[in-house]
Amino acid sequence: MKGRLEGRTAVVTGGSSGIGAGIARGLSRAGANVVVNYHSGRERAEELAQELGSGAIAYGGDVSDEAAVAKLFDATIERFGRVDIVIANSGIQKDAPIRELSLEDWKRVLDVNLTGQFLVCREAVRRFTEQTPLPHVRARGNIVCISSVHEQIPWAGHINYAASKGGVMLMMKTLAQEVAPERIRVNGVAPGAIKTPINEEAWSDPEAKRKLLELIPYGRIGEPEDVAACVTWLASDESDYVTGASLFVDGGMTLYPGFADNG
Ligand code: BGC
Repeated sequence: MKGRLEGRTAVVTGGSSGIGAGIARGLSRAGANVVVNYHSGRERAEELAQELGSGAIAYGGDVSDEAAVAKLFDATIERFGRVDIVIANSGIQKDAPIRELSLEDWKRVLDVNLTGQFLVCREAVRRFTEQTPLPHVRARGNIVCISSVHEQIPWAGHINYAASKGGVMLMMKTLAQEVAPERIRVNGVAPGAIKTPINEEAWSDPEAKRKLLELIPYGRIGEPEDVAACVTWLASDESDYVTGASLFVDGGMTLYPGFADNG
């Protein structure tokens, strides 16, 4: 359905690559103005904004930096006059078994994946209530937090990442409860293995890919478009009665595939 986000402005953090870039494309295709936030991928973000046309800009800023997050929203409002949809997507992995995991890498992952989403959500809620609601849109504001199947599935060797995503899940639900009376919706999308640079090791080598596919009952690795389709729906009026939900987009990874012929 083309145009279902017409007249709305969206911010996508970490929008320069992977799932974030897919989401930026999906929202733009649905008619939204899109701010493609990036941290290190300036060139890619600018190329993407160009590809999306006059309804898109690229804007840099580290989501774990409070002042940078405020500036990102200032820039959005300066360019498009308002902000209606916020996709808290930025995320990183710095993997190590616990004995080797430095405090620095523990903190950096928590800072970007969890504190970054907190800062982005807080700014979103503040800005949503400062502006006049759009008459033709049901929710006053709409947030989607991008989490992971690892908000639910423990993941040895990735303790910082799994802890951050578990945190995102309860942060998202708690915020959904807090702001629902203001007609602000907050939901989560929890992707499984999606083909992006973050997990290239797991799909580029044929043996690693075979092992990965054993964890996916649906038999294929996901694409950023699979996630983008769900995010676009959550950002639209079609999902108006959905808030505080975690939507797993994982080809069945959370269905305990090891039990299919065991247990
Ligand atoms: C991680 C990927 C991983 C996937 C499934 C994602 O959240 O970022 O590296 O392949 O979960 O385990």
